[in-house]
Amino acid sequence: MNENHAELCPSPEWAAVIQNEVLPSLTQYADLGEDMLEIGPGPGAATEWLRQKVKRLNAVEVDAAAAGKLADRFAGSNVEVVVGSAAELSCPDESFDSVGCFTMLHHVPTLALQNKILAEAFRVLRPGGVLLCSDSLASNDLHHFHEGDTYNPVEPASVLARLQTLGFENITVVVDGILKFIAHRPARQQPA
Ligand SMILES: C[S@@+](CC[C@H](N)C(=O)[O-])C[C@H]1O[C@@H](n2cnc3c(N)ncnc32)[C@H](O)[C@@H]1O
Repeated sequence: MNENHAELCPSPEWAAVIQNEVLPSLTQYADLGEDMLEIGPGPGAATEWLRQKVKRLNAVEVDAAAAGKLADRFAGSNVEVVVGSAAELSCPDESFDSVGCFTMLHHVPTLALQNKILAEAFRVLRPGGVLLCSDSLASNDLHHFHEGDTYNPVEPASVLARLQTLGFENITVVVDGILKFIAHRPARQQPA
């Protein structure tokens, strides 16, 4: 990520936005359960808040340096940090009650790779589990903010169809200054 991110993402101001506005508004729709996976945690603004809501929090970060810092920060806690891409998760199917992805998808360079990440989230969710995502809306200012960096904003109008194609149901898409969406893996069918 570029220098703008190096300043913003670890800042208390950013943590306050994520923890006081974004996460409470998303989690009002969902039960996070006991086991959660966060993808693209960066310096951990969301990690700090989420780890207090679940029993175990796994965090998958593609940037080895960022993952190392996060692992040091949360050493001895209920957070386990793994280095890797959310497009190729090493965890088995149906490992988590919830998956979270915050301000991350626009850093993924192609639509296909974004969809692969959403598909991996579906795979590792338990039946009935929930995916919670937020991201910034496209703007000229953000385009300039990402100078020299990947910038591939998510088109809000595409989200419903993309999630349905992957098998998600009970989908809520909110656009209120940022993009937020919540989607569920269908619960296992009970025998009749
Ligand atoms: C803008 S930061 C957001 C950090 C944090 N989620 C937040 O909201 O403060 C995006 C993070 O996603 C990570 N990332 C990008 N592509 C990824 C991938 N394929 N798998 C896992 N992490 C990824 C980046 O390395 C970066 O740390």
